[in-house]
Amino acid sequence: MNCIVITGGCGFIGSNFIRFQLKTYSDRRIINVDKLTYAGNLENLADVNADPRYTFHHGDICDREFIDCVLQSGEVDGVINFAAESHVDRSILDSGPFIQTNIVGTQVLMDACRCRNVPRFLQVSTDEVYGSLGSEGYFTEQTSLAPNSPYSASKTAADLLVRSYCHTFDFPGIVTRSSNNYGPFQFPEKIIPLFISKLVNDEQLPVYGTGENVRDWIHVLDHCRGVDAAFQRGRVGEVYNFGGNTEVKNIELTYLLLEMMGKPESLIKLVDDRPGHDMRYAIDFSKAQTELNWAPQTDFRSGLKETIDWYLSNTEWCKRIMSGEYLTYYEAQYGQRL
Ligand code: NAD
Ligand code: DAU
Repeated sequence: MNCIVITGGCGFIGSNFIRFQLKTYSDRRIINVDKLTYAGNLENLADVNADPRYTFHHGDICDREFIDCVLQSGEVDGVINFAAESHVDRSILDSGPFIQTNIVGTQVLMDACRCRNVPRFLQVSTDEVYGSLGSEGYFTEQTSLAPNSPYSASKTAADLLVRSYCHTFDFPGIVTRSSNNYGPFQFPEKIIPLFISKLVNDEQLPVYGTGENVRDWIHVLDHCRGVDAAFQRGRVGEVYNFGGNTEVKNIELTYLLLEMMGKPESLIKLVDDRPGHDMRYAIDFSKAQTELNWAPQTDFRSGLKETIDWYLSNTEWCKRIMSGEYLTYYEAQYGQRL
């Protein structure tokens, strides 16, 4: 697997994955395809730009001609699709871009791969396709699909398209489903970087509802190792779950951030709940453990501490992206200006 096309490589997980690949494999070439939406940032890969093994193509995964050109530009051993509209709250405000990129984009990529007989395609998906858990139990790969937001419905549709291509065309597709990622370069609309950047300025933290919802946090590099393992060793047509073994209520996460950043609890502000808010996610990743020899390695407290330190050292990065379009979104979502 020497030349891989990564889509969405300028986003949070994609940029971490590209850096991880170039560090881990000395002979790996990476072609990064990204539309540079509000979430895509060339700065996230500034340190690899000059690497001769790395190439960037600016474009849309829904554009078949563009994707054909990218795939024709060299011998491609596989495609990993990270590109997506990824924020649940935005999908509630406007689902259009989610349907387009997450569903149509995946179909276009797979059709282009089929035409050129690309030997491997990995679809990066999410635990949100399984819906919501009560206080007990875990999502396994057998759990029925029950997405609850336009975001998760669009990701589920894409997963099912991959499944159908594998079944109908013998397409070499694999799907991975991860829980909530945290770590460096995450866009500060997601809870952890949003709350860190608010605490830097002593601003209030908007906790949805009562903060009882539970997420299973996984460090982005553990997720990257999982995607890599599934890409190298996963079985075609299969789904692999990745989780962090770290279930945390949002309110507990909020207290932890306050404690770690030395800020007062008075900064907590309970706000209107997210419509259709999934209560709990928890992942059974035993299949990845058995088949891929994968397990998460990062302890949540130390991973969170490192993440806080990264945001504290990169306040200018945050400031630059928390401008323009983000300000309009923020006002629509939180009913107040940032
Ligand atoms: P992100 O929003 O940070 O980045 C998405 C990237 O995709 C951006 O660089 C953006 O410019 C690019 N993109 C968007 N539309 C595009 C298009 N039409 N063509 C080309 N590029 C386009 O997202 P992320 O958090 O890094 O998530 C990456 C993938 O992982 C997504 O598929 C997401 O569903 C999945 N995932 C994310 C998490 C998480 O916690 N963040 C967890 C599980 C799965
Ligand atoms: O589970 C995997 C998913 O995790 C990925 O597929 C998505 O791409 C990713 O965005 C993430 O989705 P969530 O909706 O869980 O992440 P978010 O950071 O938006 O919210 C995490 C929890 O925090 C959720 O219960 C809602 C809550 N929340 C979020 C925000 C932004 C708040 O209470 N206040 C906030 O301001």
